[in-house]
Amino acid sequence: PQSPIMIQGPMPIEAEYFASLLDNVQVEQSGNASFYKGSLNGYPVVVVKTGKGVENTAAATAVGIIKYRPIAIINQGTSGGHDPALHVGDIVLGARSVNATSFKTPKRAKGKGSAPFSWTPMDLMASEGSAGEGDSAADAEKIRYYQGDSTLMAVALSVKNMHKSGRVVKGTIGSGNFWNNELDRIEWLHREIGTSVEEMETSAAAQIAHAYHTPLLGIRILSNNATNHGEYDPSTAKACQLFVKHVVEAYIKQL
Ligand code: 5AD
Repeated sequence: PQSPIMIQGPMPIEAEYFASLLDNVQVEQSGNASFYKGSLNGYPVVVVKTGKGVENTAAATAVGIIKYRPIAIINQGTSGGHDPALHVGDIVLGARSVNATSFKTPKRAKGKGSAPFSWTPMDLMASEGSAGEGDSAADAEKIRYYQGDSTLMAVALSVKNMHKSGRVVKGTIGSGNFWNNELDRIEWLHREIGTSVEEMETSAAAQIAHAYHTPLLGIRILSNNATNHGEYDPSTAKACQLFVKHVVEAYIKQL
């Protein structure tokens, strides 16, 4: 049997439309994740409703890889803009993704408060030693980026004109269990980490997919952008899945 393509989406509005496109669907539950196993144009596809956030996504990715052995994974859904040049409805293809909540703080005495703009990035995969103290601590003071798969990226770029309600651009997807509404914080992340958008899942999926040598691309539509008054638009979730359908069809053709 052929290895399936796996399409992940966190919330019902980010996964169930794609699941409805599949033929001969069987639903399998594991932990907080629902796996919709079926086919698109005769090729096996597994849609995964992972649940929100990094833990649910990491667990669903590990279970999904072990259970279904996908040839490739697309982590898709909505996001919030960090780049003022991007607008609600635009799609960011994750040339790279990054955990944008992994930091170490400088020491600060009791009563001296907290200064988030002085925090340094912390790479949890840097070494086997402590990231906090000792010789290995300095190694860990860097940002870890996961590169999006180049084949999936080329295929996604080849169908970018199929997306009508916005632009499709390459960028950096910053993940974490966070929703930032502080414009100075967003600007800091954009400048220091290089984030184009924020969301809660892609880098968690990328970290696990990387460990299992499984190609992955994040595809994230902006549902909101606080930097340019881009109000939340939930209809973007379906538009993203429609674009991802074009990507999957093009990917199947080139196999
Ligand atoms: N910040 C964080 N997550 C966001 N999402 C959409 N916009 C944002 C944002 N500005 C996505 C997350 C999560 C859900 C709440 O929507 O990935 O799954």
